[in-house]
Parts: sequence; C-alpha cells; structure tokens
Amino acid sequence: MPGSDDKGWIPDRRLRDRRAPENRRSGADRRLIDKGHADGDRRASEERRTGERRAGERRNETAWEPIALEVAAAGDADAAALVAAAIDARTRARARFSGFQVGAALETATGEVVTGCNVENATYGLTMCAERVALYKALSDGKDVFTRIAVVADTDDPTPPCGSCRQLLWEYCGDIDVILANLSEVKRRMRLSQLLPLPFDARLLE
Ligand code: THU
Repeated sequence: MPGSDDKGWIPDRRLRDRRAPENRRSGADRRLIDKGHADGDRRASEERRTGERRAGERRNETAWEPIALEVAAAGDADAAALVAAAIDARTRARARFSGFQVGAALETATGEVVTGCNVENATYGLTMCAERVALYKALSDGKDVFTRIAVVADTDDPTPPCGSCRQLLWEYCGDIDVILANLSEVKRRMRLSQLLPLPFDARLLE
C-alpha cells in the first residue's frame, strides 16, 4: 500500500488478547478496540452484574481494558471499498465557505460502513468535520465498536483528522486504523494512537 505506515504503536497492556483461541482469526491485521467511553458505560447496572452480553459483542466487560480485535484480510482491496464510500460521501460536503470538501467512512466491527461529510455554516465556527459527522451518525444509530475510518480529500498530501476529531475518535473508537486517501489513491495508513500519542481520556478521570 502506498505510504503504508502501520507501525502499530501499542502500549504493552493493550496487547492482551482475552478472546478464546477459537475466536482468533489468523493472518489478520491486529487492531484494538478500546472499551472505555468518555461518558462511561451506560449499560444498565443489572446487565453488568449478570455479565449478560449482547450477541456478537466482542468488547471486554471491564471499562478501559482494551481487547485486541483481529479482522481478517484487511488489505488494500478491503480498504478500497471503505475509501470509495468516503469518496462518495465527500460529494455531499457542505463546504461553500472553505471550498474544502472532505468525506469519511467509519467501519464497524460487524462490517457496516457509516459515512460523513463536512458541514459548514455561515458562522464558520460551527463547522462539523466529516469524521465527526460519521461518528455521531454511527453512535446515534447504536453502533459502538469500530475498526477503521477512511478520510478523503482532494489533496496530494494526506488530510489527517483535526485535533477535535482525533479526540472524539479516540474516546469512542479506540485505536482504530486511519486510512488517509485522495480521490485516486491511499496516501497513508496509520493507527489513531500515532496521531494522538498521549491522549486524555476517561481513564484519567477515574
Ligand atoms: N475538515 C474535515 O471535515 N476533516 C478534516 O480532517 C479536516 C478538515 C473540514 C472542516 C472544514 O469544513 C474544512 O475541512 C476546512 O477546514
């Protein structure tokens, strides 16, 4: 992959894979799901007590104890579909003030894709980036485990998420893969922890 940069900076404690061996896929691109959320785990305490799990849930039960999640065959072809979704979303950007159109596509652990585009307004300051539009759409639809995000702009250099988006993505998505592309190719691929190496998050409030 052009400019691939997946060095996988991962704190040691994030490497623990607590899943049963039979659930571990081989040949996979390791990625991490960070269970902790800024607003805490709002699941009913009763559900927590009983340890009840939703079908297919792959998160750890303990807040802020990340688990490793392997998603098989997350290679170039796989990224292409996600990038294509971001390119399509970008066509709906409301960017009349900056003229800078951005598209994002956020992938859930179950393979669903939620897209977003930047939405600007006349006060400028209320602008919402494509990444956060995608994230808020996904969260409001009840999705809460994510694996990757593709961000697309029509630039030669990769367009990385802004600081606000990095923070929100970190808190709600954990250490996902970030794929930065333009209209013709993937420019860089990295983990969110490379973009936000010393994050402030809910763990520090505990
Ligand atoms: N923008 C995004 O949507 N995502 C990014 O990663 C960078 C910036 C938008 C915000 C604004 O509408 C325009 O690009 C110029 O900053």
